[in-house]
Amino acid sequence: MSGILITGGSGQLGNALQALAAMRGLPFSVVSRPDFDFEKPQTVAACFVGALPSLVINAAAYTAVDAAESNPAAAKAGNHTGPLQLAELCAAVDIPFIHVSTDYVFDGSKGQPYTEDDATAPSGVYGRTKRDGEEAILATAAKAIILRTAWVYAAYGRNFARTMLNAARKTNVLRVVADQRGTPTAAPDLAAAILDIVKILQAGGWKPAYRGIYHATGSGETSWYGFAKAIFAAAPPEFPHPSITPITTADWPTPARRPADSRLDCCKIAKIFGVRLPDWRSSLPPIVAALIEMDAPRP
Ligand SMILES: NC(=O)c1ccc[n+]([C@@H]2O[C@H](COP(=O)([O-])OP(=O)(O)OC[C@H]3O[C@@H](n4cnc5c(N)ncnc54)[C@H](OP(=O)(O)O)[C@@H]3O)[C@@H](O)[C@H]2O)c1
Repeated sequence: MSGILITGGSGQLGNALQALAAMRGLPFSVVSRPDFDFEKPQTVAACFVGALPSLVINAAAYTAVDAAESNPAAAKAGNHTGPLQLAELCAAVDIPFIHVSTDYVFDGSKGQPYTEDDATAPSGVYGRTKRDGEEAILATAAKAIILRTAWVYAAYGRNFARTMLNAARKTNVLRVVADQRGTPTAAPDLAAAILDIVKILQAGGWKPAYRGIYHATGSGETSWYGFAKAIFAAAPPEFPHPSITPITTADWPTPARRPADSRLDCCKIAKIFGVRLPDWRSSLPPIVAALIEMDAPRP
């Protein structure tokens, strides 16, 4: 097998996938907007034909959770109809399609980590379009693997860790939601999990048992408040350390409702592929260091 096509190359996961694929010496090509745009189906088809891939990893998505509430058409194209088109292209030439979805397909009311067998119940447009994308892909592509992840951050792009660190440069008091539980996932850890699965497919070929949905987040759990505390604990002493006040979801109204507890049970990916993402805390320090360096004020 050769020639992985990575979509969404300008995003957090797309970036991490490229870096790791290069490090592992894997043949790959990367596409991003404007050349590859789910809102322009002809660009998707042209990129696919141009790459002639033997496997596709879709890291492209409409990820603006709040903006999705007022842009349902763009969210649908980015998370449902666009990925479906990609799945159809993969199915037509019988190659594996690895797609990424979200914990926001759940409403967060279970009170325990969700398994892949739990019913979905998204509470917003983003989660609903991602769920519709999952269902459409599974109805289309025989060789589909869908990884649901959560709370993705990286030393790149837009994410909670970067927002916290940059806010601390401007203010010494931060208010952070403490009543939403989940698990931060470092983009490089998710990229490694995906490329480990690719390695298994390359070595042993596709097996029908692989098809389906898998949960893939960092290990452990926290709240956004706990995540913020850990971010500043990982920052060097000379970096501003704000006081962090825990608040409730009701104190911080947003256009989209978020699940109160979207922890994901990640046993299935460990059982089928032997893949386990590291504890979320262990991946945080190098990313915090890189973000601080990247956004440091330049003279
Ligand atoms: N970020 C999270 O916290 C989180 C949580 C759970 C699940 N996920 C899922 O994880 C995956 C990777 O997320 P990420 O954090 O890497 O996202 P990201 O940093 O926001 O990157 C998204 C990528 O998709 C591209 N994109 C957006 N709309 C597109 C469209 N219409 N056509 C083609 N490309 C488009 C973006 O391009 P531009 O740079 O041009 O915008 C960017 O390359 C996604 O499937 C996401 O739903 C993310």
